[in-house]
Amino acid sequence: MHPKIVFFDTTLRDGEQSPGVSLNLKQKLEIGKALAELGIDVIEAGFPITSPGDFEAVKKLAEEVKGPTIAALARANQKDIEVAWEAIKGAEKPRIHTFIATSDIHLKYKLKKGRDQVLEMAREAVKLALKFCPDVEFSAEDATRSDWDYLAQVVLEVVKAGATTINIPDTVGYTVPQEYFRLIRFLVEKLIDAGYEEDLKNGRLRLSVHCHNDLGLAVANSLSAILAGATQIEGTINGIGERAGNAALEEVVMALKTRKDFFSKELGYELQVDIDTRKIVPTSQLVSQYTGMPIQPNKAIVGANAFAHESGIHQHGVICERTTYEIINPEDVGWTGSAIVLGKHSGRHALAFKLRSRGWKFDDKVLQEVFERFRNEVKDVLRKIDDEYLEGILLDIFLEDSYRYALTSSQVISVFGSSLRPFAQVEIEDKKEGKKVSIGIGNGPIDAAFKAVARALGYSESSLKLIDFHIDALGGGSEAEGICGVVVESKEGLRTAGLGKDGDIVIASLKAFLKALNRLEALKEKGEELKAKELTL
Ligand code: KIV
Ligand code: ZN
Repeated sequence: MHPKIVFFDTTLRDGEQSPGVSLNLKQKLEIGKALAELGIDVIEAGFPITSPGDFEAVKKLAEEVKGPTIAALARANQKDIEVAWEAIKGAEKPRIHTFIATSDIHLKYKLKKGRDQVLEMAREAVKLALKFCPDVEFSAEDATRSDWDYLAQVVLEVVKAGATTINIPDTVGYTVPQEYFRLIRFLVEKLIDAGYEEDLKNGRLRLSVHCHNDLGLAVANSLSAILAGATQIEGTINGIGERAGNAALEEVVMALKTRKDFFSKELGYELQVDIDTRKIVPTSQLVSQYTGMPIQPNKAIVGANAFAHESGIHQHGVICERTTYEIINPEDVGWTGSAIVLGKHSGRHALAFKLRSRGWKFDDKVLQEVFERFRNEVKDVLRKIDDEYLEGILLDIFLEDSYRYALTSSQVISVFGSSLRPFAQVEIEDKKEGKKVSIGIGNGPIDAAFKAVARALGYSESSLKLIDFHIDALGGGSEAEGICGVVVESKEGLRTAGLGKDGDIVIASLKAFLKALNRLEALKEKGEELKAKELTL
């Protein structure tokens, strides 16, 4: 029998030690529950001695989060351990996690103690913790910069004292995969020599790893440790934590799952990973939202671009067969929606895929015309190309002649230093109903202008929503043109987009708004009819 991998999450303790992060009780509780649903085995809820707030949060989590073991951190002293126990004693499965540094640097400069004293403190801390709780984890802080023989001595002593999980932290993110492998292997062998082989095999005794990311190696080091015999992995969601952070658990989990073939072969037995991977992205987003730490777009697994394909060749490959450029199905980690994003490198395959998934049928000539217009009108002027801009091109090809509205005149007044609000007046020629004139008052000149247009065309606030609006400059210096993009939504849920270009950004915005409205009305009136047939040119 071989033990499953235990995932120990310290988002609420080491993660909360990230600079600038402070979670309130409600947020900690919500994250704790999300971690439990994800299938995390051990949640380190906090370091109770550090503040009454931390104590309360650990206590609350211990009482309310069911399923995982709830751990509390304590230095190797009586007070810390007693307070940690007070905080977690209400848990279904409590764990005291006690630690002391074992490296000479820490002993000399921080603890100001000799090796024998530290060995004694470690042993006593474990014994005391065991009086309260049968599940005791011991961490040898700065293990990777410790003398190996001394580290092994401490490990053997705390195991003898009754600790059931022995954590070997790379506290300062100093080790590299091959070295860490050797260290863990060295310790496994020492434990086997001391008669603990069976305990290691059946999971009664575990070597654990806890890697920091100072050299960007936290995940690689953790994986290397598993190959050497570690069966508990510590880390955080999104890899948050002290300095450069901790090993990102979602990356460790997905590496083990995706390369299960490799790990199982190397280990000589089937690796067991019991995590509900579909909860990874929602949990990651919850942690990011509550900690205020954004996820970098190119972050593995949970970054916004982790499964986004923009280049034409890649898009073509993924549309034909997902596995050409994807090693993980994005849905398996909780992503929803299409991975194909429109961008300046998108080719015909991506355009066809997008339009077809919105219900359009068309022949190659139509696709070629869409492609040309996309290249000329959109791709170099927008940074983010919503699908509506692409659909707008298709509508232009078939419906432009029936577009109703044209801006014939406009005046917008915005005065600095006045209490009067910006004011706009527009005149629009409506092919069906003739000339329409209206005014608008807004928070800014563009808002006033949009209100005037909406009123002139009879849209109420509830019948038209502005979903997206952005302005950019095309070109540089005083010759630059303003380029405006808008996305609007009708009360029926139909969305269209429009682009407008002009030296005057208010006029560019008005052009974009009117274009979107023209497309919206055409789509409402003729969309169903057009979608019912194959479009040809
Ligand atoms: O990085 C570290 O060494 C720690 C220990 C307290 C486990 O966080
Ligand atoms: Zn740490």
